[in-house]
Amino acid sequence: MRNLLVTGGAGFIGANFVRHVVEHTDDAVVVLDKLTYAASPEALADLPEDRVRTVVGDVADAELVGRLVQDADVVVHFAAESHNDNSLRDPWPFVHTNIVGTAVLLEAVRHHGVRLHHVSTDEVYGDLELDEPRRFEEGSPYRPSSPYSASKAAADHLVRAWVRSMGVRATLSNCSNNYGPWQHTEKFIPRQITNLLSGRRVKLYGEGLNVRDWIHVDDHSSAVLAILDRGEVGETYLIGAENERANIDVVRAILRSLGHAEDDFDRVTDRVGHDLRYAIDPSKLRAELGWEPRFADFDAGLADTIRWYADHRDWWEQGKDQVEAAYAKAGQ
Ligand code: NAD
Ligand code: DAU
Repeated sequence: MRNLLVTGGAGFIGANFVRHVVEHTDDAVVVLDKLTYAASPEALADLPEDRVRTVVGDVADAELVGRLVQDADVVVHFAAESHNDNSLRDPWPFVHTNIVGTAVLLEAVRHHGVRLHHVSTDEVYGDLELDEPRRFEEGSPYRPSSPYSASKAAADHLVRAWVRSMGVRATLSNCSNNYGPWQHTEKFIPRQITNLLSGRRVKLYGEGLNVRDWIHVDDHSSAVLAILDRGEVGETYLIGAENERANIDVVRAILRSLGHAEDDFDRVTDRVGHDLRYAIDPSKLRAELGWEPRFADFDAGLADTIRWYADHRDWWEQGKDQVEAAYAKAGQ
């Protein structure tokens, strides 16, 4: 049994990870989360109190972080500002949480000699052409496009510097696009599902030819757990389930599932600097750690997710108008 400190544990992936840990291990979890607009404390509400405790606070608060890290065996760092479109409107929260917050955490784990796992994104590698055979690998060059991905790239560089030169024991992972329960309605898949469930129209950026490599959030959790258990300190692991889809095909699948015609969507203003394609080669994770995704069938995972949103209206309906008002202002 370990004591895990999970930063951002009330967010989409963090909360799913905490639920996964409670189900699959004996570990106890302290969640450190600022409870920003993106948090869902509801996702933790039914978990046993003797396994999961939440502390509300900022990962950039050195005094608080020092106290929590001191009592932990391992820190798993999910806390971040995570949405590209928001980073284009106001980059400062991204600099604060993703860069300064990671530096504060690194100093705390260095001081207390605690192992860290840093959760990052494939977006640090920029984008790929639609037709090139290459996929992202652990050694791919960094080429981030947005303030969000640049801030995550900066954080990755900080972690590697603290490993190489400051004696910190850390692993890193860069994962592709997640989908599943508890994802905020600002993100692509939940936005389209909840648009249809609330009588709105589906909104596709540009031509919808951009490709994302989708992984179910529970498979991301099992991969992070495999890295905590069997990963080698100093190593980076790419996490992906080899499910590349063009946005327009995802939109059509959602429309079909909810009984709409496939062309029943609006094309809206494209994202500035919009990355064309992401694709992960997860060979290292599979070969070295024996990890396999459980949700290999994207269409089945998407159908489960659509059902989940239909069954959890109370959770997403409150914030929906505000999200759509912000998008409408940007012509999206
Ligand atoms: P999210 O936006 O849903 O959740 C982020 C959580 O961090 C929220 O609970 C928020 O309250 C918390 N937080 C924000 N600022 C904080 C601060 N200063 N101090 C403490 N807590 C703070 O994000 P997500 O989609 O769950 O992403 C989690 C992590 O995974 C991020 O590091 C992100 O870069 C990475 N990631 C996400 C994806 C994806 O598809 N969503 C893919 C790969 C990697
Ligand atoms: O690749 C991992 C990344 O995936 C994570 O690091 C980010 O935290 C996460 O937000 C996600 O980034 P994307 O920018 O790829 O995800 P988003 O859900 O914002 O958009 C997915 C694609 O869908 C993208 O090509 C933009 C497009 N899109 C998005 C929205 C919200 C639309 O066409 N319409 C929309 O309404």
